[in-house]
Amino acid sequence: MAEGTGAAQVEELMASAMSELEAADSLDRLEEWRVSYMGRRGRLTQILRSLGGMSPEERRFVGGAANRVKALLEESLGQREQAIKRAQSRGSGDQDAFDVTLPGWPMPQGGLHPTTRIVREILSVFQSMGFQVVEGPEVEWERYNFEMLNIPKDHPARDAFNTLWVDYEDENGDKPMLLRTHTSPMQARYMEQTKPPIRIVSPGNSYRYEATDATHEWQFTQIEGLAVDRGVTFANLKGTLFEFARRIFGEDRQVRFRCDFFPFVEPGVDMSIDCFSCGGSGCRLCSGTGWIEIMGAGMVHPKVLEAAGVDSYIYTGFAFGMGPERIAMLKYGIDDIRLFHANDLRFLKQF
Ligand code: PHE
Repeated sequence: MAEGTGAAQVEELMASAMSELEAADSLDRLEEWRVSYMGRRGRLTQILRSLGGMSPEERRFVGGAANRVKALLEESLGQREQAIKRAQSRGSGDQDAFDVTLPGWPMPQGGLHPTTRIVREILSVFQSMGFQVVEGPEVEWERYNFEMLNIPKDHPARDAFNTLWVDYEDENGDKPMLLRTHTSPMQARYMEQTKPPIRIVSPGNSYRYEATDATHEWQFTQIEGLAVDRGVTFANLKGTLFEFARRIFGEDRQVRFRCDFFPFVEPGVDMSIDCFSCGGSGCRLCSGTGWIEIMGAGMVHPKVLEAAGVDSYIYTGFAFGMGPERIAMLKYGIDDIRLFHANDLRFLKQF
């Protein structure tokens, strides 16, 4: 082999190898290409074999170039192979391919908490009757929670509201702040701010320092209602709450009012609905009585109107308060109020 020819061959081989590699568009053609250059009788292999017949100087020169080209061709071969495989898997339904016909992974979908649902449902019933939704603070002054609702200090009714007091002292050393024990303070707050006519419903958290059991939680939701205007009567209270019961518990519901005592209403009542589970004959749900108590209500006490600056000679009103969790328990057959705050997805996912 003449001097210099080897080097020119390597150079020419490199150029043709690269352009043919570029043109190889299947794994079969890639294999043909590999055999024709680097197979046992391939062109590059032959050059490497012919090194033995060269002068030492030429051998070093051509050998070095041929080995660098070999490394380069092997690397390019690998890259080309990857590219062809990628292109193939994109186009066909092969194993590693992305199969567009497969169903996707379902994204877990959240939902509204059952308390939120029932609160919204109850509110919308009252909204449709012209009541407006307002909200107030959960950390409340003793004045709104008790005094303005005709529950002065040392009044025995305070015993019924086991109060969580806030650790805050005023300048007299008194502790006048608490976690509201009911949503009734919103009656006083709203009347203080707004002239009648008033028609509001006010949902929110309430707190009582109580042992928990299946029907008691120390934190629970309440919905307060208040309507104040000239000539509001007990008949208005009955009509409004009857309509509420029918809309939430069904068209055939009967309601029953019995005397009850709350310092901020006079007369005060508790309202029951006939048991929708047994139809009034008596079952476990209604403890055999045929009736289920669902809320407290009454005509706003004149002292409460006056304390909030409403003239009780001109205006009268009714108020009611209910526990949405208890309403949801009845409506959906939930037997433990603690489930509402237990964060158990098996429970929550049912709503
Ligand atoms: N606030 C009372 C309670 O928590 C319920 C109630 C509200 C009763 C309004 C009468 C009028 O028990």
